[in-house]
Amino acid sequence: MPKKRIAVLTGAGVSAESGFATFRDSGGLWEKYDVQEVASIEGWYRNRALVLDFYNDRRRQLADAKPNAAHYAIAELEKDFDVDVITQNVDNLHEKAGSTRILHLHGELTKVRPEQGLYDRTYRTDEVIDIGCGEVHLGDLAPNGQQLRPHIVFFGEAVPNIEKAIEIVSRADILLIVGTSLQVYPAAGLYRYAGNQVPIYIIDPAEVPVHDPRITHIRAVATKGMEEFKKYLRNQK
Ligand code: OAD
Repeated sequence: MPKKRIAVLTGAGVSAESGFATFRDSGGLWEKYDVQEVASIEGWYRNRALVLDFYNDRRRQLADAKPNAAHYAIAELEKDFDVDVITQNVDNLHEKAGSTRILHLHGELTKVRPEQGLYDRTYRTDEVIDIGCGEVHLGDLAPNGQQLRPHIVFFGEAVPNIEKAIEIVSRADILLIVGTSLQVYPAAGLYRYAGNQVPIYIIDPAEVPVHDPRITHIRAVATKGMEEFKKYLRNQK
């Protein structure tokens, strides 16, 4: 029997118990920073040094971060299921926990790439450079002579991996959503691509903004919620 497929969509909440502030909770990153200044394409062209520093800080924080029990529980699902993780997070905690198929929807903190011209929206994957938790400053150039920029999807930019994510969700037997406020599109609309009979589990300690008969809301933090989710899975292998 082929293994059942689980698609897991994660957001900032899955990394909260690793010490990362979420974006929209009280005390979240977007209370401290103006999202339009540090995470939009217009902000990038307005003040690239500020944007580079914002992501240098995030990388510094990532250097000491460790996966938590929720990341590990998601990785362990691979023992019994065919698992794809689709994450909005730019950290590498799913990788560190051992998940093997991870699609980053909003880019990756540990990577940078040459800045393209204002009207050139594409980038070449072979020009993406892994800098780990290092820093990038104004004047740091790619081999092609262009300024390096974070390999992050800024607000106002297209989400190149969304088609792949839709395909993963549409062929899943079970959809698990962990720690996302479902406020940012197109990621927030992905659950709609799950098949009609597909159970959708949402782990989040807060109210969820979506109402759909397929949804079971596990109202808990990610680590506790994953324990609960595993109970639902016992009859599903
Ligand atoms: P948000 O900050 O919008 O939402 C975080 C969600 O996690 C909320 O629903 C919280 O209730 C929940 N949460 C908080 N603590 C949790 C815990 N311990 N366990 C489980 N859930 C918890 O973050 P995202 O939905 O990920 O994009 O935000 C989406 C995108 O907006 C991000 O990828 C980022 C941001 O701007 C870019 O920067 C492009």
